Amino acid sequence: MRKKIVAGNWKMNKTLPEGKQLIKSIIDELNHRNNKEVKIVLAPSFVHLQNAVELVSEFNQISVAAQNCSDKSSGAYTGEVSAEIINSVGCEYVIIGHSERRLYYLETNNILSEKVNQALNNQLHVIFCCGESIEERNDQKHFEIIKSQLTEGLFQISDNQIDKIVIAYEPVWAIGTGLTASPEQAQEMHQFIRMVVSEKFGEHKANNISILYGGSCSSSNAKSIFNQKDVDGGLIGGASLKSVDFVDIINSF
Ligand code: 13P
Repeated sequence: MRKKIVAGNWKMNKTLPEGKQLIKSIIDELNHRNNKEVKIVLAPSFVHLQNAVELVSEFNQISVAAQNCSDKSSGAYTGEVSAEIINSVGCEYVIIGHSERRLYYLETNNILSEKVNQALNNQLHVIFCCGESIEERNDQKHFEIIKSQLTEGLFQISDNQIDKIVIAYEPVWAIGTGLTASPEQAQEMHQFIRMVVSEKFGEHKANNISILYGGSCSSSNAKSIFNQKDVDGGLIGGASLKSVDFVDIINSF
């Protein structure tokens, strides 16, 4: 049985005190209504990581993720944070390949493959993001684009390492726009991603990998998206910044 996962990507939001408060409210909310079948992942900014790990330590269901890691292992790379440093604070996951990183920081598939290697070499689970732009979808190139993002950015890993990967499908046109992919569009792409994983790593691995949907996912649309056969949860941006909304989404399975 593959894992159901709801991950909150806080992006560049919340000061340290605000972040502590949000985690406390999420735990408080979960103590009232919790879907224990769901793995919860919180991805605050780097500055929060150690605190977040401490705050969720009593709550096995919640893990902490970094939003990025360096493609280098260590050394003179001012401003970068290595996978080893991330692992050293007790963080278990890292998000790699978010479209905002691809777009604003020019992260290529090649760089992303190095980041994935760094993460896996340092015992981190990877949430690997892929997604097409609206132009690519309008040109009917969305399947091709997703396949090349996976092939060039992720598929250098070994058969054993795929067990440490979660894939997040986040169509760029749906991120922060209020335009969600329809449940059918999400299912169609998730099924395609599972097929591409199966071609490379075999059916068993493909059936076990969790594939999350991201892009304007909210408490009002999560249920219909999570109901789809190949959707195993969500990577949530805006709605992860409010405890009630986030826990509503967790309880949407
Ligand atoms: P929104 O949920 O704000 O659209 O963001 C999605 C996202 O980018 C999560 O990584």
